[in-house]
Amino acid sequence: MNHNHNDEHEESHKPPRRTEMSRRQFLTYTLGGATAYMAAGVVIPMVRFAVDPILQKGETGDFVKVVESSKITAEPQEFDFELKQQDGWYNSTAQLTAWIRKADDGTIIALSPICKHLGCLVGWNNNESHVNEFYCPCHGARYTPDGKNLAVAPKPLDMYTVKEDGGWIYLGEIIPNTVVN
Ligand code: FES
Repeated sequence: MNHNHNDEHEESHKPPRRTEMSRRQFLTYTLGGATAYMAAGVVIPMVRFAVDPILQKGETGDFVKVVESSKITAEPQEFDFELKQQDGWYNSTAQLTAWIRKADDGTIIALSPICKHLGCLVGWNNNESHVNEFYCPCHGARYTPDGKNLAVAPKPLDMYTVKEDGGWIYLGEIIPNTVVN
């Protein structure tokens, strides 16, 4: 009887103990999952680091010789140039365009032609109703000669970083417009 009673007594404790174990297991699995997730979080940035410098090199690295400084006027002019990129073993050439002008204080402003509305290409003085402005034919965005957005587009035109050396204009990466805001 005594023995039986003990068995019963032990059995009566088993279910709660099992519950305890499974709760611990649950915690273990949860923590394990969190650790795996964190490990993935570490790995993904490392992959990005490995890939990004190659992708950005052409964009952010070297300046490209574009035009003689003497050709730049107060009115924006369109200049096309090539950016050679080397992504690992892969060489490519990007065809780029800049609208370049000289401001009253002598600052060279080189604007990207990509409309900040939805990415069409703007033109200069290409709409009779809007003289001396950049105009986007897609939905009518308009910009000042320095790229300030006047209509439709939410932001000013981006600009290239500019370097002048030996009578030449060199253009670098594309950055948000710092001349207007
Ligand atoms: S893309 Fe230029 S106005 Fe819409």
